[in-house]
Amino acid sequence: MVRFKMIALILFAVSCFCLVNTNAFAIDTDTIYAEKCEMCHGADGKGTSQGIDFGVQDFTDAEWQAAHTDDEFIHSITNGKEENENYIPFGDMLSEEEIKAMAAHVRKFAH
Ligand code: HEC
Repeated sequence: MVRFKMIALILFAVSCFCLVNTNAFAIDTDTIYAEKCEMCHGADGKGTSQGIDFGVQDFTDAEWQAAHTDDEFIHSITNGKEENENYIPFGDMLSEEEIKAMAAHVRKFAH
């Protein structure tokens, strides 16, 4: 009986670990970027010619990055930019967690 409890406990602990783990790795920001962002922002973050026509900024510009907060990024990715109709909102396409992860992903271009 004690042995059964031990096994149950170990199984429970392992399944919790797996759940936490898959959550942490579930957001593949590289894939999301390639599928949903790259066509405008470019693989290198500098912007494609199409993106630059739409008015994208250069993600590798550290000064521009420093001038914008994570909250601004999250707000823009979720809602688009009111003043720029070329920037489509992703609030319906990505979860809140994914949007946060994407804001962090955008930061990496300036490093
Ligand atoms: C259809 C083209 C297009 C796509 C696709 C696109 N963006 Fe943008 N993005 C823009 C444009 C245009 C701007 C500049 C908006 C402005 O400042 O007027 C912008 C600005 C941004 C900014 C800066 C926001 C700010 O507050 O200044 C971030 C961050 C960003 N995009 C992230 C993303 C991410 C992440 C994705 C993919 C999920 C994405 N974008 C997909 C066109 C695009």
